[in-house]
Amino acid sequence: MSVQRWKIGVFDSGFGGLTVLRALLRRLPEADYLYLGDTARLPYGSKSRETIVRYALSSTRFLIDQGADFLVIACNTASALAFDAIRAASPVPVLGVIETGADEARRSSRTGDILVIGTAATIESHAYAAACRERGLRALEKACPLLVPLVEEGWLDHPVTREVVRIYMDELLGQARQSDSHPDVLVLGCTHYPLLRPAIEAAAAAGLRVLDSAEATAAEAVRRLKSAESAPRSVTPGQRRFFATDSIAKFQSLGARFLESPVEDIVLVDLGG
Ligand code: DGL
Repeated sequence: MSVQRWKIGVFDSGFGGLTVLRALLRRLPEADYLYLGDTARLPYGSKSRETIVRYALSSTRFLIDQGADFLVIACNTASALAFDAIRAASPVPVLGVIETGADEARRSSRTGDILVIGTAATIESHAYAAACRERGLRALEKACPLLVPLVEEGWLDHPVTREVVRIYMDELLGQARQSDSHPDVLVLGCTHYPLLRPAIEAAAAAGLRVLDSAEATAAEAVRRLKSAESAPRSVTPGQRRFFATDSIAKFQSLGARFLESPVEDIVLVDLGG
């Protein structure tokens, strides 16, 4: 029997999905990884559902054409608005971040009240509220559209970023008080936000646990891959290939912050408009 190697395609509108790739690499270093950051068309979070679906479909098709045999949609906006379309179009299994984030929230919350922050498109889709409801949780959601540009600017530990985060959190916590909600979990519903975790934790009320879905998504991907395996798998470290639709130099410098290791072998691709 031949020894096989998983080829996992990881897709995000930009760099944030590298936090999911980082978690995958820790758990499954023996897989090959293809990472696509659709940086030319980022941000997805301010666009319409039709545009997000179109971008997400062309991005995931690209990864399938490159030979991916499992897809991780490491973008909350694409998972919230395009997951069904991607799954319908994909010949290989697909995992998104919303369900895994909601599962993690259910495991972590005692009160059943959850706060979720994300891009405008993610929050307006109410995908998190629906996934939380299915799990018996109540979610209060808030769009934080200024946070992605601040991360893109590299202003991770900057007074302006801390102030913007504080204002968003004050508004959300005020909303929770008014609706008699007692949240004990805050879900970071955007793959850029883990880089702002210190500022978010500082602005969050005491007793609020901050969750990002990167670890939960990686754990679920590994669980699904291993439960479906039919042949022995290679145990030697696999390859990583990166694809970006805009500046390689920017992908290299910003990507290293998300991956917490150098990002090399980046190929520039054109997926159209
Ligand atoms: N990756 C997106 C998300 O997780 C954030 C960036 C964007 O708006 O494209 O929602």
